[in-house]
Amino acid sequence: MSHYQYQGENLLCEDLEIESITNEIETPFYCYSLRSLRDNINKYKENLKNTNSKICFALKANSNLEIVKIIAEEGLGADVVSIGELQKALRAGISAKNIVFSGVGKTESEIEFAIKNNCFQINAESISEIKKINEISGNLNIKQNIGIRINPDVRPDTHSKITTGSIENKFGVPIKDVKELFIQSNLFENINFKGLAFHIGSQIMKLEPFEEACKITNQLIKEVESNGFTIKTVDVGGGIGIDENEKFQFKKYFNLINSYFAKKDRTIIFEPGRTIIGNTSILVSKILYIKETEDKIFVVIDAGMNDFMRPALYGATHEILPILQCDTKKNKVIEFVGPICETSDKFLTLDSFQKINEGDFIAISNTGAYGSSMSSNYNIRPNIAEILVNKNKFLAIRKRQNLEELISE
Ligand SMILES: Cc1ncc(COP(=O)(O)O)c(C=O)c1O
Repeated sequence: MSHYQYQGENLLCEDLEIESITNEIETPFYCYSLRSLRDNINKYKENLKNTNSKICFALKANSNLEIVKIIAEEGLGADVVSIGELQKALRAGISAKNIVFSGVGKTESEIEFAIKNNCFQINAESISEIKKINEISGNLNIKQNIGIRINPDVRPDTHSKITTGSIENKFGVPIKDVKELFIQSNLFENINFKGLAFHIGSQIMKLEPFEEACKITNQLIKEVESNGFTIKTVDVGGGIGIDENEKFQFKKYFNLINSYFAKKDRTIIFEPGRTIIGNTSILVSKILYIKETEDKIFVVIDAGMNDFMRPALYGATHEILPILQCDTKKNKVIEFVGPICETSDKFLTLDSFQKINEGDFIAISNTGAYGSSMSSNYNIRPNIAEILVNKNKFLAIRKRQNLEELISE
């Protein structure tokens, strides 16, 4: 994680000791680094500066209003999957002309809202949805741009619950139906068939699955264009993974995408989520209890799977860091667990860890993506606070939810 490092025994976010934040903010809380967010955005901007492209941040990865406002100020667009995300993107200041509306189950009112608000493109995922968009566009007398999300049937090497581009997944239109759809496009007189879209999954660390999806899409483009159509947009989705060593080959990825799709009068749409926000944040939590059995040590922390779901949901691994580092090590299996009444409420199991005590603070790493946005009130636990660090200061960007509000519903 960039911009998180130790100075002596202290874990710092940018120039601020995390311990100092724990004096003011009740744990658990999400802590973000502004510098890290700007670095991630700049990586995309730098690599794409000579490409006709749109960078549309996937709001599902993180929809904190202040975070989305920063993303808007940086000039990025948004990829949204619900009317809520669409409204949040607009409220944060993202122009509708930079918003792509994705998702397999859009309702009529969501489609209507997107069309009325001049959403740049709706990515349709089925023939029924295309008919529905056509009908609503007709009623509104607005010709809507659509992309067709294809299912390229590729199987990236990632967790089975986060693959989205293979034929057994619910997403996208099978390749064999796409050509036919273009041929019949004159039947849908209220929509413009602008382009094609794919998104093959998440947390993908290798280039090969992207290359396979590009190859298949490119072949399809050739076939569609040979029938007299023009593909004006190619949406390559998101899906790039993050890890501690930052080993994903970004440069090669952008070269790959450009080599397949860059063309005059064509826009390439990127929908990154995790690579923009994932490594900008840690989840800071306090150790409530330490329970030692014959085989292992359970460390019960005050963050639960409702606050950060990825380990319980996908078996995702997120490193745990002490807020105050020390040299003494305890060599026994140690399991960091939450307070929720579910066995799956655990974060990490290690063979050893530094010596720790009840009341100490720890940080779960890389929690910016699919952390706060996936959190819930399970066990009637309030949503936790979120803070943003800028150099040696921090700002609360979401207050801890009021318990009274929660119990009165
Ligand atoms: C259509 C679409 N685009 C973009 C994303 C963002 O993916 P990631 O956060 O892996 O970059 C997702 C994530 O599920 C998605 O479904």
